[in-house]
Amino acid sequence: ARWMIRAAAHYLGSFPASIHELYLARGRGEVPESFTVPAINIRGMTYDTARAAVRSVQKRDGGAFIFEIARSEIGYTGQRPAEFSSQVIAAAVREEFHGPIFIQGDHFQINAKKYAENPEAELGAVKDLVAEAIGAGFYNLDIDASTVVDYSKPTLAEQQDRNARLTAELTAHVRSLQPEGVTVSVGGEIGEVGMQNSTVGELEAFMEAYNAHLSGLGAGLVGLSKISVQSGTQHGGVVLPDGSLADVRIDFETLGSLSRVARETYGLAGAVQHGASTLPDEAFDMFPRSGTAEIHLATSFQNIFFESLYLPDEIKEGMYAWLVANCAAERTADMTDEMFFYRTRKKAYGPFKEAIWGIDWGTRKSLSEDLEDRLDFFFEKLGVDGTQGVVQKKVPHHRAGIPRGFVVNGRAVAVVRLGEAWHAFTNRCPHNGQRLDDGQLAGTVLTCRWHGWRFDVVTGLSPDIPPGEDGPRVRTYPVRVADGQVAVLVDPL
Ligand code: FES
Repeated sequence: ARWMIRAAAHYLGSFPASIHELYLARGRGEVPESFTVPAINIRGMTYDTARAAVRSVQKRDGGAFIFEIARSEIGYTGQRPAEFSSQVIAAAVREEFHGPIFIQGDHFQINAKKYAENPEAELGAVKDLVAEAIGAGFYNLDIDASTVVDYSKPTLAEQQDRNARLTAELTAHVRSLQPEGVTVSVGGEIGEVGMQNSTVGELEAFMEAYNAHLSGLGAGLVGLSKISVQSGTQHGGVVLPDGSLADVRIDFETLGSLSRVARETYGLAGAVQHGASTLPDEAFDMFPRSGTAEIHLATSFQNIFFESLYLPDEIKEGMYAWLVANCAAERTADMTDEMFFYRTRKKAYGPFKEAIWGIDWGTRKSLSEDLEDRLDFFFEKLGVDGTQGVVQKKVPHHRAGIPRGFVVNGRAVAVVRLGEAWHAFTNRCPHNGQRLDDGQLAGTVLTCRWHGWRFDVVTGLSPDIPPGEDGPRVRTYPVRVADGQVAVLVDPL
Protein backbone atom coordinates (compact mmCIF):
# COMPACT_ATOMS: atom_id res chain seq x y z
CA ALA A 1 0.00 0.00 0.00
CA ARG A 2 2.87 2.39 0.81
CA TRP A 3 4.43 1.76 -2.61
CA MET A 4 1.08 2.51 -4.28
CA ILE A 5 0.74 5.77 -2.34
CA ARG A 6 4.23 6.85 -3.43
CA ALA A 7 3.51 5.85 -7.03
CA ALA A 8 0.19 7.73 -7.09
CA ALA A 9 1.88 10.82 -5.65
CA HIS A 10 4.67 10.54 -8.20
CA TYR A 11 2.20 10.54 -11.11
CA LEU A 12 0.32 13.48 -9.63
CA GLY A 13 3.49 15.51 -9.29
CA SER A 14 3.66 15.61 -5.50
CA PHE A 15 6.79 14.25 -3.91
CA PRO A 16 8.78 14.37 -0.66
CA ALA A 17 11.25 17.24 -0.92
CA SER A 18 13.87 19.23 0.94
CA ILE A 19 13.31 22.88 1.80
CA HIS A 20 17.10 23.44 1.90
CA GLU A 21 17.37 25.41 -1.38
CA LEU A 22 14.46 27.69 -0.48
CA TYR A 23 16.01 28.37 2.93
CA LEU A 24 19.44 29.13 1.53
CA ALA A 25 17.84 31.44 -1.05
CA ARG A 26 16.23 33.25 1.86
CA GLY A 27 19.63 33.50 3.53
CA ARG A 28 20.97 35.14 0.35
CA GLY A 29 18.08 37.61 0.34
CA GLU A 30 16.56 36.19 -2.86
CA VAL A 31 13.24 35.33 -1.20
CA PRO A 32 11.03 37.85 0.60
CA GLU A 33 10.92 37.58 4.40
CA SER A 34 7.17 38.12 4.33
CA PHE A 35 6.40 34.59 5.50
CA THR A 36 7.27 32.23 8.33
CA VAL A 37 7.09 28.54 7.46
CA PRO A 38 4.68 26.63 9.73
CA ALA A 39 5.87 23.14 10.70
CA ILE A 40 2.92 21.09 11.89
CA ASN A 41 3.50 18.24 14.33
CA ILE A 42 0.79 15.61 13.91
CA ARG A 43 0.33 13.23 16.82
CA GLY A 44 -2.88 11.49 15.89
CA MET A 45 -5.56 11.37 13.20
CA THR A 46 -2.61 12.02 10.92
CA TYR A 47 -4.25 11.42 7.55
CA ASP A 48 -7.25 13.66 8.30
CA THR A 49 -5.12 16.39 9.88
CA ALA A 50 -2.75 16.38 6.91
CA ARG A 51 -5.72 16.60 4.54
CA ALA A 52 -7.01 19.62 6.48
CA ALA A 53 -3.58 21.28 6.20
CA VAL A 54 -3.33 20.60 2.46
CA ARG A 55 -6.84 21.99 1.88
CA SER A 56 -5.96 25.11 3.82
CA VAL A 57 -2.75 25.58 1.84
CA GLN A 58 -4.52 25.05 -1.49
CA LYS A 59 -7.09 27.75 -0.67
CA ARG A 60 -4.31 30.31 -0.48
CA ASP A 61 -1.95 29.05 -3.20
CA GLY A 62 0.59 28.22 -0.51
CA GLY A 63 3.53 25.87 -0.75
CA ALA A 64 5.87 26.74 2.13
CA PHE A 65 4.65 24.46 4.92
CA ILE A 66 6.05 21.39 6.65
CA PHE A 67 4.68 18.22 8.22
CA GLU A 68 6.80 16.93 11.07
CA ILE A 69 7.12 14.49 13.92
CA ALA A 70 9.65 14.52 16.76
CA ARG A 71 11.75 11.61 18.00
CA SER A 72 9.72 11.52 21.23
CA GLU A 73 6.41 11.70 19.31
CA ILE A 74 7.44 8.80 17.07
CA GLY A 75 7.74 6.84 20.32
CA TYR A 76 4.59 7.75 22.19
CA THR A 77 2.25 8.10 19.20
CA GLY A 78 3.45 4.81 17.69
CA GLN A 79 4.08 6.33 14.24
CA ARG A 80 7.33 5.15 12.65
CA PRO A 81 8.65 7.46 9.90
CA ALA A 82 7.42 5.29 6.99
CA GLU A 83 3.90 5.21 8.42
CA PHE A 84 3.89 8.96 9.05
CA SER A 85 5.16 9.90 5.59
CA SER A 86 2.75 7.48 3.90
CA GLN A 87 -0.22 9.07 5.64
CA VAL A 88 0.90 12.59 4.81
CA ILE A 89 1.60 11.73 1.16
CA ALA A 90 -1.73 9.88 0.90
CA ALA A 91 -3.46 13.01 2.22
CA ALA A 92 -1.74 15.11 -0.46
CA VAL A 93 -2.81 12.62 -3.14
CA ARG A 94 -6.40 12.61 -1.84
CA GLU A 95 -6.53 16.41 -2.03
CA GLU A 96 -4.87 16.36 -5.49
CA PHE A 97 -1.97 18.47 -4.29
CA HIS A 98 0.75 19.13 -6.87
CA GLY A 99 4.17 20.11 -5.65
CA PRO A 100 6.82 19.34 -3.06
CA ILE A 101 5.77 17.91 0.31
CA PHE A 102 8.21 18.82 3.06
CA ILE A 103 8.35 16.08 5.70
CA GLN A 104 10.54 16.78 8.69
CA GLY A 105 12.07 14.93 11.60
CA ASP A 106 11.65 17.35 14.50
CA HIS A 107 13.80 17.30 17.64
CA PHE A 108 15.96 14.39 16.56
CA GLN A 109 17.32 14.89 20.00
CA ILE A 110 20.26 13.59 21.98
CA ASN A 111 18.84 12.48 25.33
CA ALA A 112 21.21 14.07 27.86
CA LYS A 113 20.78 11.36 30.50
CA LYS A 114 21.29 8.48 28.08
CA TYR A 115 24.23 10.31 26.49
CA ALA A 116 25.86 10.68 29.91
CA GLU A 117 25.46 6.94 30.54
CA ASN A 118 26.60 5.73 27.12
CA PRO A 119 27.49 8.41 24.54
CA GLU A 120 28.09 6.01 21.65
CA ALA A 121 24.83 4.14 22.12
CA GLU A 122 22.78 7.34 22.28
CA LEU A 123 24.47 8.89 19.24
CA GLY A 124 24.04 5.56 17.43
CA ALA A 125 20.31 5.54 18.24
CA VAL A 126 19.86 9.00 16.70
CA LYS A 127 21.92 7.95 13.67
CA ASP A 128 19.69 4.90 13.19
CA LEU A 129 16.61 7.09 13.35
CA VAL A 130 18.13 9.49 10.80
CA ALA A 131 18.68 6.56 8.41
CA GLU A 132 15.14 5.28 8.90
CA ALA A 133 13.68 8.76 8.39
CA ILE A 134 15.62 9.53 5.21
CA GLY A 135 14.57 6.15 3.83
CA ALA A 136 10.95 7.18 4.47
CA GLY A 137 11.25 10.50 2.60
CA PHE A 138 12.05 12.80 5.52
CA TYR A 139 14.31 15.20 3.63
CA ASN A 140 14.23 17.80 6.43
CA LEU A 141 15.79 16.97 9.79
CA ASP A 142 16.13 19.04 12.94
CA ILE A 143 19.08 17.79 14.93
CA ASP A 144 18.85 18.74 18.58
CA ALA A 145 21.97 18.38 20.66
CA SER A 146 21.16 21.53 22.66
CA THR A 147 20.44 19.13 25.52
CA VAL A 148 24.18 18.58 26.00
CA VAL A 149 25.20 22.25 26.10
CA ASP A 150 27.44 22.48 29.16
CA TYR A 151 26.51 25.64 31.06
CA SER A 152 29.12 24.87 33.73
CA LYS A 153 31.89 25.90 31.32
CA PRO A 154 33.19 29.48 31.57
CA THR A 155 32.91 30.64 27.93
CA LEU A 156 30.10 30.44 25.38
CA ALA A 157 32.44 28.66 22.96
CA GLU A 158 33.16 25.94 25.51
CA GLN A 159 29.49 25.68 26.50
CA GLN A 160 28.33 25.15 22.90
CA ASP A 161 31.22 22.96 21.73
CA ARG A 162 29.71 19.52 22.44
CA ASN A 163 26.41 20.60 20.87
CA ALA A 164 28.29 21.84 17.78
CA ARG A 165 30.43 18.70 17.51
CA LEU A 166 27.51 16.27 17.74
CA THR A 167 25.39 18.35 15.33
CA ALA A 168 28.30 18.35 12.85
CA GLU A 169 28.76 14.59 13.21
CA LEU A 170 25.07 13.98 12.61
CA THR A 171 25.10 16.37 9.63
CA ALA A 172 27.94 14.36 8.06
CA HIS A 173 25.89 11.21 8.68
CA VAL A 174 22.88 12.79 6.92
CA ARG A 175 25.07 13.76 3.94
CA SER A 176 26.34 10.19 3.63
CA LEU A 177 22.76 8.87 3.44
CA GLN A 178 20.83 11.45 1.43
CA PRO A 179 19.71 10.25 -2.01
CA GLU A 180 21.42 11.57 -5.11
CA GLY A 181 19.97 14.91 -6.14
CA VAL A 182 18.64 15.76 -2.65
CA THR A 183 20.35 18.03 -0.13
CA VAL A 184 18.50 17.27 3.08
CA SER A 185 17.66 20.42 5.04
CA VAL A 186 19.40 20.13 8.42
CA GLY A 187 18.57 22.39 11.35
CA GLY A 188 20.64 22.84 14.50
CA GLU A 189 19.46 24.03 17.90
CA ILE A 190 21.06 26.28 20.49
CA GLY A 191 18.32 26.90 23.03
CA GLU A 192 16.20 24.39 24.86
CA VAL A 193 12.52 25.29 24.88
CA GLY A 194 11.42 26.25 28.37
CA MET A 195 14.94 27.35 29.35
CA GLN A 196 16.56 30.78 29.26
CA ASN A 197 16.38 32.84 26.07
CA SER A 198 19.09 32.37 23.46
CA THR A 199 21.57 35.14 22.73
CA VAL A 200 23.43 36.28 19.62
CA GLY A 201 26.67 35.35 21.42
CA GLU A 202 25.49 31.74 21.80
CA LEU A 203 24.45 31.60 18.15
CA GLU A 204 27.87 32.84 17.03
CA ALA A 205 29.73 30.49 19.38
CA PHE A 206 27.70 27.53 18.13
CA MET A 207 28.00 28.35 14.43
CA GLU A 208 31.76 28.99 14.53
CA ALA A 209 32.36 25.69 16.33
CA TYR A 210 29.87 23.82 14.13
CA ASN A 211 31.46 25.03 10.89
CA ALA A 212 34.94 24.13 12.18
CA HIS A 213 33.86 20.63 13.26
CA LEU A 214 32.02 20.04 9.97
CA SER A 215 34.96 21.03 7.79
CA GLY A 216 37.11 18.70 9.91
CA LEU A 217 34.78 15.84 8.94
CA GLY A 218 35.15 16.27 5.19
CA ALA A 219 35.76 18.88 2.52
CA GLY A 220 32.69 20.52 1.01
CA LEU A 221 30.11 19.04 3.38
CA VAL A 222 26.94 21.14 3.21
CA GLY A 223 25.96 22.61 6.59
CA LEU A 224 22.80 23.90 8.24
CA SER A 225 19.83 25.71 6.69
CA LYS A 226 18.35 27.18 9.92
CA ILE A 227 18.82 27.33 13.67
CA SER A 228 16.31 26.68 16.46
CA VAL A 229 16.44 29.10 19.36
CA GLN A 230 14.58 29.86 22.55
CA SER A 231 12.76 33.16 22.95
CA GLY A 232 10.18 32.50 25.64
CA THR A 233 7.94 29.56 24.71
CA GLN A 234 7.20 26.37 26.59
CA HIS A 235 6.25 23.12 24.82
CA GLY A 236 2.54 22.59 25.37
CA GLY A 237 2.08 26.05 26.89
CA VAL A 238 1.79 26.87 30.59
CA VAL A 239 -1.35 25.25 31.94
CA LEU A 240 -3.31 26.79 34.84
CA PRO A 241 -5.20 24.81 37.52
CA ASP A 242 -8.52 25.09 35.61
CA GLY A 243 -6.90 23.65 32.47
CA SER A 244 -6.73 26.99 30.62
CA LEU A 245 -3.44 28.41 29.36
CA ALA A 246 -1.43 31.27 30.80
CA ASP A 247 -0.43 34.04 28.40
CA VAL A 248 3.17 33.53 27.38
CA ARG A 249 5.18 36.35 25.89
CA ILE A 250 7.76 35.90 23.20
CA ASP A 251 10.79 38.12 23.00
CA PHE A 252 10.42 39.07 19.34
CA GLU A 253 13.35 41.44 19.54
CA THR A 254 15.65 38.53 20.43
CA LEU A 255 14.07 36.36 17.76
CA GLY A 256 14.55 39.15 15.19
CA SER A 257 18.23 39.70 16.06
CA LEU A 258 18.99 35.97 16.01
CA SER A 259 17.27 35.60 12.63
CA ARG A 260 19.18 38.56 11.19
CA VAL A 261 22.59 37.28 12.35
CA ALA A 262 21.73 33.75 11.14
CA ARG A 263 20.96 35.15 7.67
CA GLU A 264 23.55 37.86 7.28
CA THR A 265 26.55 36.16 8.90
CA TYR A 266 25.91 32.49 8.21
CA GLY A 267 23.62 32.46 5.14
CA LEU A 268 20.87 30.48 6.91
CA ALA A 269 17.12 31.07 6.49
CA GLY A 270 16.89 32.49 10.02
CA ALA A 271 15.77 31.38 13.46
CA VAL A 272 13.20 28.71 14.27
CA GLN A 273 10.89 28.89 17.29
CA HIS A 274 9.40 25.74 18.80
CA GLY A 275 6.36 25.44 21.05
CA ALA A 276 4.47 28.25 19.31
CA SER A 277 0.94 26.96 18.81
CA THR A 278 -0.36 27.85 22.26
CA LEU A 279 0.74 31.49 22.13
CA PRO A 280 -1.94 34.18 22.18
CA ASP A 281 -3.46 34.81 18.73
CA GLU A 282 -1.99 38.30 18.45
CA ALA A 283 1.56 36.86 18.55
CA PHE A 284 1.34 35.18 15.16
CA ASP A 285 1.51 38.34 13.03
CA MET A 286 4.81 39.05 14.69
CA PHE A 287 6.70 36.01 13.43
CA PRO A 288 6.95 37.13 9.78
CA ARG A 289 7.55 40.71 10.92
CA SER A 290 10.53 39.65 13.02
CA GLY A 291 12.01 37.61 10.14
CA THR A 292 11.47 34.25 11.89
CA ALA A 293 12.15 31.49 9.36
CA GLU A 294 9.98 28.72 10.80
CA ILE A 295 7.77 27.98 13.78
CA HIS A 296 6.63 24.64 15.16
CA LEU A 297 2.95 24.08 15.91
CA ALA A 298 1.78 21.02 17.82
CA THR A 299 -0.25 21.31 20.98
CA SER A 300 -3.01 23.50 19.58
CA PHE A 301 -4.12 20.68 17.24
CA GLN A 302 -4.03 18.21 20.11
CA ASN A 303 -6.18 20.57 22.20
CA ILE A 304 -8.71 20.92 19.38
CA PHE A 305 -8.89 17.13 19.09
CA PHE A 306 -9.44 16.50 22.81
CA GLU A 307 -11.80 19.41 23.34
CA SER A 308 -13.89 18.90 20.22
CA LEU A 309 -17.57 18.19 20.76
CA TYR A 310 -17.26 15.67 17.93
CA LEU A 311 -14.70 13.40 19.66
CA PRO A 312 -16.70 10.30 20.64
CA ASP A 313 -17.06 10.04 24.45
CA GLU A 314 -15.94 6.41 24.53
CA ILE A 315 -12.62 7.32 22.86
CA LYS A 316 -11.91 10.29 25.12
CA GLU A 317 -12.94 8.45 28.28
CA GLY A 318 -10.88 5.44 27.23
CA MET A 319 -7.82 7.62 26.64
CA TYR A 320 -8.19 9.40 29.98
CA ALA A 321 -8.68 6.10 31.84
CA TRP A 322 -5.50 4.81 30.18
CA LEU A 323 -3.63 7.91 31.42
CA VAL A 324 -4.83 7.38 34.99
CA ALA A 325 -3.64 3.78 34.85
CA ASN A 326 -0.34 4.37 33.06
CA CYS A 327 0.90 7.90 33.73
CA ALA A 328 0.20 8.28 37.46
CA ALA A 329 3.92 8.71 38.12
CA GLU A 330 3.83 12.03 36.22
CA ARG A 331 1.26 13.48 38.61
CA THR A 332 2.56 15.93 41.21
CA ALA A 333 0.76 16.90 44.41
CA ASP A 334 -0.19 20.39 43.16
CA MET A 335 -1.78 19.14 39.89
CA THR A 336 -5.52 19.35 39.39
CA ASP A 337 -7.16 16.70 37.15
CA GLU A 338 -7.31 19.27 34.36
CA MET A 339 -3.56 19.94 34.62
CA PHE A 340 -2.73 16.22 34.76
CA PHE A 341 -4.76 15.34 31.66
CA TYR A 342 -3.56 18.41 29.77
CA ARG A 343 0.07 17.54 30.45
CA THR A 344 -0.11 13.80 29.74
CA ARG A 345 -2.81 13.23 27.13
CA LYS A 346 -0.44 13.23 24.15
CA LYS A 347 0.81 9.87 25.46
CA ALA A 348 -2.57 8.22 24.91
CA TYR A 349 -2.39 8.71 21.12
CA GLY A 350 -0.25 5.60 20.56
CA PRO A 351 -2.39 3.06 22.44
CA PHE A 352 -5.54 4.52 20.82
CA LYS A 353 -4.16 4.99 17.30
CA GLU A 354 -6.28 2.28 15.76
CA ALA A 355 -9.39 3.27 17.71
CA ILE A 356 -8.99 6.81 16.32
CA TRP A 357 -8.57 5.43 12.78
CA GLY A 358 -11.84 3.61 13.34
CA ILE A 359 -13.89 6.75 14.12
CA ASP A 360 -16.60 7.06 11.47
CA TRP A 361 -15.91 9.32 8.50
CA GLY A 362 -18.64 11.86 9.34
CA THR A 363 -17.13 12.46 12.79
CA ARG A 364 -13.56 12.59 11.46
CA LYS A 365 -14.69 15.06 8.81
CA SER A 366 -16.18 17.36 11.47
CA LEU A 367 -13.01 17.07 13.57
CA SER A 368 -10.82 17.84 10.59
CA GLU A 369 -12.94 20.88 9.69
CA ASP A 370 -12.27 22.23 13.21
CA LEU A 371 -8.56 21.67 12.61
CA GLU A 372 -8.77 23.34 9.21
CA ASP A 373 -10.27 26.49 10.78
CA ARG A 374 -7.29 26.78 13.10
CA LEU A 375 -4.84 26.01 10.31
CA ASP A 376 -6.49 28.75 8.21
CA PHE A 377 -5.76 31.19 11.02
CA PHE A 378 -2.11 30.14 11.42
CA PHE A 379 -1.37 30.05 7.70
CA GLU A 380 -2.92 33.44 7.07
CA LYS A 381 -1.07 35.12 9.95
CA LEU A 382 2.23 33.51 9.00
CA GLY A 383 2.00 34.74 5.40
CA VAL A 384 1.75 31.33 3.73
CA ASP A 385 -0.58 32.82 1.09
CA GLY A 386 0.97 32.83 -2.37
CA THR A 387 4.15 30.99 -1.34
CA GLN A 388 3.66 28.29 -4.00
CA GLY A 389 5.46 30.66 -6.40
CA VAL A 390 8.73 30.84 -4.43
CA VAL A 391 8.58 27.12 -3.72
CA GLN A 392 8.20 26.37 -7.44
CA LYS A 393 11.12 28.66 -8.21
CA LYS A 394 13.55 27.52 -5.53
CA VAL A 395 12.81 23.87 -4.76
CA PRO A 396 14.21 21.36 -7.27
CA HIS A 397 11.25 19.62 -8.91
CA HIS A 398 13.02 16.75 -10.45
CA ARG A 399 15.25 14.41 -8.52
CA ALA A 400 18.20 12.88 -10.28
CA GLY A 401 17.80 9.20 -11.06
CA ILE A 402 13.98 9.15 -10.83
CA PRO A 403 12.24 8.85 -14.22
CA ARG A 404 9.01 10.82 -14.71
CA GLY A 405 6.41 10.05 -17.35
CA PHE A 406 4.76 12.66 -19.60
CA VAL A 407 2.73 12.72 -22.77
CA VAL A 408 4.49 14.81 -25.41
CA ASN A 409 2.85 15.35 -28.82
CA GLY A 410 0.60 12.39 -28.08
CA ARG A 411 3.50 10.07 -27.26
CA ALA A 412 4.24 8.55 -23.85
CA VAL A 413 7.73 9.72 -22.95
CA ALA A 414 9.81 9.27 -19.79
CA VAL A 415 12.44 11.80 -18.73
CA VAL A 416 15.27 11.25 -16.29
CA ARG A 417 18.18 13.36 -15.06
CA LEU A 418 21.50 11.59 -14.52
CA GLY A 419 24.04 13.96 -12.98
CA GLU A 420 23.64 17.16 -15.01
CA ALA A 421 22.45 15.40 -18.20
CA TRP A 422 18.82 14.79 -19.15
CA HIS A 423 17.59 11.80 -21.14
CA ALA A 424 14.21 10.99 -22.68
CA PHE A 425 12.88 7.69 -23.96
CA THR A 426 9.62 5.99 -24.92
CA ASN A 427 7.61 5.23 -21.81
CA ARG A 428 6.44 1.87 -23.16
CA CYS A 429 8.25 -1.41 -22.62
CA PRO A 430 8.76 -3.24 -25.96
CA HIS A 431 8.02 -6.52 -24.21
CA ASN A 432 4.40 -5.95 -23.30
CA GLY A 433 3.73 -2.23 -23.46
CA GLN A 434 3.87 -1.46 -19.73
CA ARG A 435 5.13 1.94 -18.59
CA LEU A 436 8.83 2.13 -17.83
CA ASP A 437 8.98 5.21 -15.58
CA ASP A 438 8.26 3.10 -12.50
CA GLY A 439 11.14 0.71 -13.26
CA GLN A 440 14.37 0.42 -11.27
CA LEU A 441 17.31 2.47 -12.48
CA ALA A 442 20.89 1.38 -11.74
CA GLY A 443 23.48 3.61 -13.39
CA THR A 444 22.05 4.15 -16.87
CA VAL A 445 20.23 0.81 -17.02
CA LEU A 446 16.50 0.75 -16.35
CA THR A 447 14.81 -2.56 -15.46
CA CYS A 448 11.13 -2.86 -16.34
CA ARG A 449 9.34 -3.80 -13.15
CA TRP A 450 6.96 -6.21 -14.86
CA HIS A 451 9.21 -8.93 -16.29
CA GLY A 452 12.69 -7.55 -15.90
CA TRP A 453 13.63 -6.49 -19.45
CA ARG A 454 16.50 -4.02 -19.29
CA PHE A 455 17.38 -0.95 -21.35
CA ASP A 456 20.07 1.68 -21.31
CA VAL A 457 18.22 5.03 -21.02
CA VAL A 458 21.03 6.86 -22.86
CA THR A 459 21.25 4.59 -25.94
CA GLY A 460 17.90 2.78 -25.77
CA LEU A 461 19.74 -0.54 -26.29
CA SER A 462 19.35 -3.62 -24.12
CA PRO A 463 22.51 -4.65 -22.26
CA ASP A 464 21.24 -8.24 -22.55
CA ILE A 465 21.58 -8.30 -26.36
CA PRO A 466 25.15 -8.82 -27.61
CA PRO A 467 26.49 -5.78 -29.51
CA GLY A 468 25.68 -5.88 -33.21
CA GLU A 469 22.74 -8.27 -32.84
CA ASP A 470 19.15 -7.21 -33.44
CA GLY A 471 16.88 -7.09 -30.43
CA PRO A 472 14.32 -5.03 -28.57
CA ARG A 473 15.21 -1.44 -27.76
CA VAL A 474 13.44 1.70 -26.61
CA ARG A 475 13.38 4.82 -28.69
CA THR A 476 15.29 7.78 -27.26
CA TYR A 477 14.57 11.46 -27.92
CA PRO A 478 16.81 14.54 -27.96
CA VAL A 479 16.51 16.83 -24.92
CA ARG A 480 17.34 20.54 -24.78
CA VAL A 481 17.70 22.48 -21.52
CA ALA A 482 17.45 26.28 -21.52
CA ASP A 483 16.49 28.79 -18.80
CA GLY A 484 15.70 25.99 -16.38
CA GLN A 485 13.19 24.46 -18.83
CA VAL A 486 13.61 20.93 -20.15
CA ALA A 487 12.29 20.40 -23.70
CA VAL A 488 11.94 16.95 -25.28
CA LEU A 489 11.96 16.98 -29.07
CA VAL A 490 9.24 14.54 -30.13
CA ASP A 491 7.70 14.26 -33.58
CA PRO A 492 3.88 14.37 -33.47
CA LEU A 493 2.08 11.03 -33.49
S1 FES B 1 6.37 -5.36 -19.94
FE1 FES B 1 8.41 -4.80 -19.54
S2 FES B 1 9.40 -6.64 -19.21
FE2 FES B 1 7.40 -7.24 -19.62
